Amino acid sequence: MNSSEPTPLIYPSSAIRHLPTHLAIIMDGNGRWAKSRGLPRTAGHKKGADALRRTLDNCSKAGINYLTIYAFSSENWKRPSDEISDLMQLLQHYLHNELETLHEKGVRLRFIGDLSKLSKEIYGQLEHAKHLTERNKDFHLTIALSYGSRQEIVHTAQKLAQLVKDGKLETSQITEELFSQSLDTAGLPEPDLLIRTGGETRLSNFLLWQSAYTEFYFSQTLWPDFDKADLDSAINDYAKRERRYGTSSE
Ligand code: IPE
Ligand code: IPE
Ligand code: MG
Repeated sequence: MNSSEPTPLIYPSSAIRHLPTHLAIIMDGNGRWAKSRGLPRTAGHKKGADALRRTLDNCSKAGINYLTIYAFSSENWKRPSDEISDLMQLLQHYLHNELETLHEKGVRLRFIGDLSKLSKEIYGQLEHAKHLTERNKDFHLTIALSYGSRQEIVHTAQKLAQLVKDGKLETSQITEELFSQSLDTAGLPEPDLLIRTGGETRLSNFLLWQSAYTEFYFSQTLWPDFDKADLDSAINDYAKRERRYGTSSE
């Protein structure tokens, strides 16, 4: 290819204009994927980790710079302890195996949620990953772990209330902007598109504040099967939408 020729577009130019900057994903359906094959749920979670690797790559190739994924909810602590420990082990392996590669690719890792509930070992791993990658700018991967949006909002309200109590903040200074910047997701843009795989059409306590004007896309595909074609469908669907934010389209 002649160097003066433009780089081939992966998506039509009309879609490029509407490419989401920030994609959030509720990665659901691992258990059902495994069950339908007569496998233990953990096998589904393992395949889910492969789907994450693939999706991260596909997002970055498509030009999406922010990906926030729901990996473990505050309510998922209610699952059987065997499944929880398998999931925690998988998380440790994922970080152990992927961190260097992610860092080389310029990925900045963030973690949101009540991380104090995780083991000391995992917490240490997360802190290490966060610090190692904090100067990276090419891609922003945020992993929601032990995350619940209501808990995040309550915690934020408590932090701000304490500042008022200590005389460091006036009640009138508590604005939407300040509140946003006091959440776990401070510094991240709000998600433009949120995909939930696995066929359920609910938020399950994910990014309630942040998704006020997010576009939703519900996919029947179980997370372990989620591939480039599924991502493309979601991106192309998003590209056709008109985001009005309460205004009229005229
Ligand atoms: C999502 O898959 C992964 C986590 C919640 C950790 P599930 O484990 O919820 O799978 P299903 O919904 O039971 O199929
Ligand atoms: C949401 O999925 C949490 C994650 C994907 C990590 P769940 O499977 O826990 O949600 P519900 O129980 O179907 O609402
Ligand atoms: Mg589920």
